Amino acid sequence: MDFTEVIAARKSVRKYSDKPVDNGTIMKCLEAARIAPSWANKQCWHFIVVRDRKKIEKLSSMINFWLKDASAVIVACGDPLKSGFKTEPHYYLVDVAIALEHFVLAATNEGLGTCWIGAFDEETVKTLLGIPKEIKVVALTPIGFPAEDEGLFSKTLKTLISSKKRKPIEEIVHMEKW
Ligand SMILES: Cc1cc2nc3c(=O)[nH]c(=O)nc-3n(C[C@H](O)[C@H](O)[C@H](O)COP(=O)(O)O)c2cc1C
Repeated sequence: MDFTEVIAARKSVRKYSDKPVDNGTIMKCLEAARIAPSWANKQCWHFIVVRDRKKIEKLSSMINFWLKDASAVIVACGDPLKSGFKTEPHYYLVDVAIALEHFVLAATNEGLGTCWIGAFDEETVKTLLGIPKEIKVVALTPIGFPAEDEGLFSKTLKTLISSKKRKPIEEIVHMEKW
């Protein structure tokens, strides 16, 4: 895919086939995250690759129950003390978000599905994965081959939140001043 196609093809995938994703492909996508820009090039991020089925099940929640079927889950973490923290905003969030989106786009390029997950209980995730106290969990994403049929839950959610809809460009772009 060329860059424009990758950007257009990316979408949240909430139903996965049981075909496994090999470690090499996951590492290739993590390499895209590794070379992302960051505050003062501090690279405050850490990524945990979770493949253990029991752990993945524990990472699923009421709202994100479908996560349990993903081939793997990536847990994206940041160290606030290794990023810009003297002024707001806390740039570790920006750093980790950029890197994770690199990962997401690289996965799209491999024909794989992902979905940003912000709805998780941080303490539960930290305990489950032995994440140090000072580290923040920023987001999770499953990675896997999309199921052929998207399924009722995913279709309904996408309709409810109009997930394909974006604001028109005139509403969000301001020339020279707001
Ligand atoms: C920071 C962030 C957190 C999100 N958290 C969740 C989540 O917990 N569960 C979920 O199903 N989708 C989650 N999403 C996905 C959004 O709902 C989705 O990106 C949006 O509806 C647009 O749809 P698209 O990704 O298919 O283009 C999250 C997205 C972002 C950027």
